[in-house]
Amino acid sequence: MTGRAILGIESSCDDTAVAVVDRDGGIHAAETVSQSDIHAEWGGVYPEFASRAHVRAIVPAIDRAMRAAAVSPGDLEAIAVTRGPGLIGSLLVGLNAASGLGTAWDLPVIGVNHLRGHLRSADLEERRVGFPATVLLVSGGHTIVAHMADAVSIRVLGSTRDDSVGEAYDKVARMMGLGYPGGPAIDRLAREGSATIDLPRPMIREGLDFSFSGLKSAVARWLERDPGLDKADMAASFVACCMDVLLAKCRRALAAAPSRALVVVGGVAASPQLRDGAGALTDEMGVALCLPPLEWSTDNAAMIALAGWDYVALGAAPEPAAAPRLPIDRF
Ligand code: KG4
Ligand code: ZN
Repeated sequence: MTGRAILGIESSCDDTAVAVVDRDGGIHAAETVSQSDIHAEWGGVYPEFASRAHVRAIVPAIDRAMRAAAVSPGDLEAIAVTRGPGLIGSLLVGLNAASGLGTAWDLPVIGVNHLRGHLRSADLEERRVGFPATVLLVSGGHTIVAHMADAVSIRVLGSTRDDSVGEAYDKVARMMGLGYPGGPAIDRLAREGSATIDLPRPMIREGLDFSFSGLKSAVARWLERDPGLDKADMAASFVACCMDVLLAKCRRALAAAPSRALVVVGGVAASPQLRDGAGALTDEMGVALCLPPLEWSTDNAAMIALAGWDYVALGAAPEPAAAPRLPIDRF
């Protein structure tokens, strides 16, 4: 590797991830240890088990990533670690590992906002995003539409008033017995069904905020009333509903604020239905569509390292102190 790298560490939820990333977003190594098997039994993340699994995984993952990238501490510019939002016990594991290494290796430790990591994920591997841009961030914890004048300036235009869309996917998957995480399972099943069930499209006609808890309850009512209901048709109807709402908000946001691009990031950006729908919308509206490569849509450490480079460029190094409820517009 020529030039220096940032070591990124992510442990905000149920993935222990480590990556080595250069200033241009080139990924020299990326390790992710998933805890899906541990949490599948509960149908969601069980915080106490998540922190314990991070403790077991983190040091070996750092070691593997450093070896795979063939870097030594002297090749590193800094260590970037997620400081929030996320589960406090999980965040502390990554933060403690980063602080220990920072002291031992005499490197600065940058506390990164996980949501800023997602925002920057579309620039991993190659620079794609032209600013100003409208951004849709759809993850397990958040559903936000925002406008970015450049890589660091963000203005939130709308967000969910209750559940996130990823949470709705996970809860609907659980109700239908599809396991955890729910997103990929619902996507697969939806492809085998038709969107014939009439579900509400909450807040589709008004503003830029979202609401998904009513949709989730509507699915629950249908399943209770008719246990013989075709699950593939329900999955297809639920996905169609989410797509209609998400894309209506993107359309409205693009019309409201001048943008060269629509950037769609976060775990739900792995959905082929959302990728296709956003493609059709951006073609129609004459703006570029910027998506992270599929494997960098869900939680990873490469995006945390890339956001770390933004902080280096700004000369800002937020304290590596846990902030479980950190909002998107704060460093
Ligand atoms: O960004 P992420 O990995 O973690 C958070 O920061 O929350 O997002 C996780 C969410 C979960 O709700 C998961 O069900 C959803 O992303 N997800 C998907 C897909 N893959 C993951 N949703 C729809 N389609 C997918 N293929
Ligand atoms: Zn995330």
